[in-house]
Amino acid sequence: MVASILGFGGSEIGYQQVGARTVARLLGTALDAGLNVIDTAECYDDSEVLIGRALGARRRECYLFTKCGHSRGWGRGEWRPAALLASIERSLRRLETDYLDLIQLHSCSLAELRRGDAIAALEEARTRGWARYIGYSGDGEAARYAVECGRFDTLQTSVSLADQEAIELTVPRARARRMGVIAKRPLANVAWRHARKPAEPYYQDYWTRLRALDYPFLRGAPDAAVATALRFTLSVPGVHTAIVGTTKPERWQQNATLLGAGALPAREFERIRARWREVAETSWAGQV
Ligand SMILES: NC(=O)c1ccc[n+]([C@@H]2O[C@H](COP(=O)([O-])OP(=O)(O)OC[C@H]3O[C@@H](n4cnc5c(N)ncnc54)[C@H](OP(=O)(O)O)[C@@H]3O)[C@@H](O)[C@H]2O)c1
Repeated sequence: MVASILGFGGSEIGYQQVGARTVARLLGTALDAGLNVIDTAECYDDSEVLIGRALGARRRECYLFTKCGHSRGWGRGEWRPAALLASIERSLRRLETDYLDLIQLHSCSLAELRRGDAIAALEEARTRGWARYIGYSGDGEAARYAVECGRFDTLQTSVSLADQEAIELTVPRARARRMGVIAKRPLANVAWRHARKPAEPYYQDYWTRLRALDYPFLRGAPDAAVATALRFTLSVPGVHTAIVGTTKPERWQQNATLLGAGALPAREFERIRARWREVAETSWAGQV
C-alpha cells in the first residue's frame, strides 16, 4: 500500500451521529484532494454504514481499514474466533465491500494476544480473502507484543504531542520489521482548545498532560498550533499515516494544506521531545 500521510479517522462521524449527506461530502471532497486511507471500527456506532454509503462506486479509490472485537459496543470485548469472524463479515456488509484492506484487533489485552486464537481468526479472515492485511490497534505492552510476535502487518497506536510513549516503545520496533504504522489520536484531540478541563473523560488525560507540558506554540494562532502538532506526529520516523478524526467536510483539505510545510525541522522536533522527557510522568502511558 502507498498510504496518504493524512488519513481519515472514522470514530467521530459515528459517535457524533453526523448525517449521511455531510459524510458523503466530507469523504468525496477529501478523496478528490488525495485522501486514500479511511479507518473505522465495528463499534463506532454507524460509522461503517456511513462510510460504505458515502463511498459507493469510489470504494476502490481508497484503502479501507476497520477493527473487530467490540461488535456489541466498546467495553464489551469479544475475542473468540467465531465472534471475530462474524464481526468481520458484518463489517464487509456495512462497508458495502467484498474485501477490507486491513482488519485490526481492536485493543485487546496482552493476555488475549498471548492466547493467540484472536490473531489466528484474523489470519483466517485473510486466508478467506476478507482482508488483505491484518493489524493490531492499541498501545503499551500489548502493542509491543503485537509487533514482536511477527504475525501482524501493521500497528495502529497513539502518537502525538501528548502521547509519546510509542515513539520509543513500539514505533522503532515496528519500523525495523517494516510494518505499516498508523498514528491514531494524532492531534491529541486538539485538547488544548478547551479553556477548562473537558467533561468528556476521553479528552481529560490529554488536556491535563498538555497543561503540564505547556508547549509555547499551543498558545499561538490555532492553525499554526494544529500544524505543528500534526507535523510532529508525522515527523516520527516510522509513522506512515495520521488518521485525523473530524465531523467537518472542510477539515481534511484544511489539514492537508497545513501539512504542505513538510516535516518539522529537526530542532523543533527535538525541542518537543525534550519537553516531554522533562515533564512526562511515568504514568503517562499510551492512551487507548
Ligand atoms: N483503540 C483504537 O483503535 C482507537 C482509539 C482512538 C482513536 N482511534 C482512531 O483514531 C482516529 C483519530 O482519533 P481521534 O478522532 O480520537 O483524535 P484526533 O484525530 O487527535 O482529534 C480529532 C479532533 O480534532 C479536531 N480537529 C481536527 N483538525 C482540526 C483543526 N484543523 N482545527 C481544530 N480542530 C481540529 C476534530 O474536530 P472537528 O470535528 O471540529 O474537525 C476532532 O474533534 C479515530 O477516528 C479512530 O479512527 C482508534
